[in-house]
Amino acid sequence: MNDQHDTKSFSSYEQELVDFLREDALENQKQRLSVTFLWFYKGMLVSYITLLNDRISLEGDLRAVFRKKGVQYHSLPALKIGRLCVDNRFLRKGVGTMMIDFSIIVASRIFEKYSGCRFIVVDAKRNPNTKLDSIQFYRKMGFNELKEQKKGATPMYFDLVNEIKSCL
Ligand SMILES: CC(C)(COP(=O)(O)OP(=O)(O)OC[C@H]1O[C@@H](n2cnc3c(N)ncnc32)[C@H](O)[C@@H]1OP(=O)(O)O)[C@@H](O)C(=O)NCCC(=O)NCCS
Repeated sequence: MNDQHDTKSFSSYEQELVDFLREDALENQKQRLSVTFLWFYKGMLVSYITLLNDRISLEGDLRAVFRKKGVQYHSLPALKIGRLCVDNRFLRKGVGTMMIDFSIIVASRIFEKYSGCRFIVVDAKRNPNTKLDSIQFYRKMGFNELKEQKKGATPMYFDLVNEIKSCL
């Protein structure tokens, strides 16, 4: 995103994600903390995704799987989906799926050309007011839940090599 992009029309039942887009996304990008990508349809802002670098701690079953492969590291490199949101008017039309595909392409490019990147990670949240939760969405996209839990969020990962899921 850049200074020219108008985010005023964007609406979501997740107000925190609207506030982040309007108030923090561009500033975070200027500080090189994350990059936010926007999608438009006929001039309307449809969705956005915010990406940054992260790592996944190898614990429990995941650690065991990698130990068996001879990988002794305590953590492995990942691309993090910091925020992801579809405007209320465009929900359930495949836009979220398209953004996940985009993040997989970005992670693959990073690995192919620039730097190690084994996973995509996200902290999936449940909205206590609407009871809607994104965990099912991410599961459908091929993400798995990490054993480790965070307050109010479920850490999930997508393995870009996609061969260890069956081992867990
Ligand atoms: C979660 C979110 C990104 C999904 O976007 P979307 O464009 O509606 O998703 P898609 O149309 O690609 O849906 C793909 C599948 O995911 C599942 N899915 C989508 N939203 C879901 C939800 N809220 N709860 C459970 N399953 C959901 C559905 O099975 C859907 O397939 P179907 O329509 O064939 O049944 C969107 O609901 C959203 O922006 N929510 C608010 C913000 C949020 O929760 N962001 C994630 C936290 S980081």
